[in-house]
Amino acid sequence: MKNLILMFLLITFCMLFITSGLAQNKYVGVKQCSMCHKSDKQGKQFDIWQKSKHAEAYKVLASDKANEIAKKQGLKKPAAESPECLECHTVTADAKLLDKGLDVKDGVQCESCHGAGSAYKTMAVMKDQAKAIAAGLTSFKDEKEIEAKCVTCHNKKSPTFKEFKFPDMWAKIKHPIPKS
Ligand code: HEC
Ligand code: HEC
Ligand code: HEC
Ligand code: HEC
Repeated sequence: MKNLILMFLLITFCMLFITSGLAQNKYVGVKQCSMCHKSDKQGKQFDIWQKSKHAEAYKVLASDKANEIAKKQGLKKPAAESPECLECHTVTADAKLLDKGLDVKDGVQCESCHGAGSAYKTMAVMKDQAKAIAAGLTSFKDEKEIEAKCVTCHNKKSPTFKEFKFPDMWAKIKHPIPKS
C-alpha cells in the first residue's frame, strides 16, 4: 500500500513537471504586433497584412459559399464555428492557446506564420534575434522553408484549392524591414 502511494505521488509529480515544462506560448493577436510594426521605418508590416486576403480569412467563413462547403463535408456547425475550417482560417483552432486579446475575426495573423508571440513580443526580446527565436519566434532559413510554411495551409486539404505558385503568392504579401 505504501508503495502504491509513493508510486502515485511520483507519477503526479512527473506529470506536473512535464506540463509546467511544456507551458505553451500563447497567441496574442495582430493588435499587439501592430504597435511596433506599422511605422515606415519598420516597414509597415501591419498595413501590408491588413490589405492582404489573410486579414479576411475569417470573414470568408461567414459567406453562404463557406457554409455550403461545410455542409457538403458533413460538418454539423456553421463554417465559422468548425475547427475543421478554423485551423487554416485563423491562427489555431485550439482555444486554449489564445490570449484574451486575440480576435479570431482577424483571420490569418502574424503569428500564423511567426509563431505564438506571448514570450517574444517585448522590446528587449524582439531586438535580439537569437533571444526572440529562443522565445518561440519561428525563423526561416531560406525561401524553401518559407514555402514549406505556406503549404501547411495552401494545399489540397483546402476545399477550394486550385494551385499554389509560391513566387507570385509570396510577392503579394512580402513585408521586409527596409534597409537603412
Ligand atoms: C515592443 C515592440 C514590438 C512588438 C510588440 C513586436 N515587435 Fe517584432 N520587432 C520589434 C523590433 C524592434 C524588431 C527588430 C527590428 C530590426 O531588426 O530592425 C522586431 C523584429 C521582428 C521580426 C524580425 C525578426 C528577425 O530578425 O528575423 C519579426 C518576424 C517580428 N518582429 C514579428 C513580430 C510579431 C509576430 C509580433 C506580435 C506577436 C511582434 N513582432 C511584436 C518590435 C516589436
Ligand atoms: C488546409 C487548410 C484549409 C482548410 C482546412 C480550409 N481552408 Fe478554406 N482556404 C484555405 C486557403 C489556403 C484558401 C485560399 C486559396 C485556396 O482556395 O486554396 C482558402 C479559401 C477559402 C474560401 C474563399 C475561396 C473563394 O474562392 O471564395 C472559402 C469560402 C473557404 N476557404 C472555406 C472553407 C471552409 C468552409 C472550410 C471548412 C470546411 C475550409 N475553407 C477549410 C485553406 C483552408
Ligand atoms: C503568411 C505568413 C506571414 C504572415 C501572415 C506575416 N508574416 Fe511576417 N514574415 C513572413 C515570412 C515568411 C518572412 C520572411 C522570413 C523572415 O524574415 O523571417 C517574414 C518577415 C517578417 C519580418 C522581418 C522582415 C525582415 O526584413 O527581416 C517582420 C518584422 C515581420 N515579418 C513581421 C510581421 C508582422 C508584424 C505581421 C502581422 C502584421 C506579419 N509579419 C505577418 C511570414 C508572414
Ligand atoms: C494559417 C494558414 C495559412 C498560411 C500559413 C498561409 N496562408 Fe495564405 N491564405 C490562407 C487563407 C485561408 C487564404 C484565403 C483568405 C481569403 O480568401 O479571404 C489565403 C490567401 C492568400 C493569398 C491571397 C490569394 C489571392 O488569390 O490573392 C496570398 C497571396 C497568400 N495567401 C499567400 C501566402 C503565402 C506566400 C504564405 C506563406 C508565406 C501563406 N499564404 C501562408 C491561409 C494561409
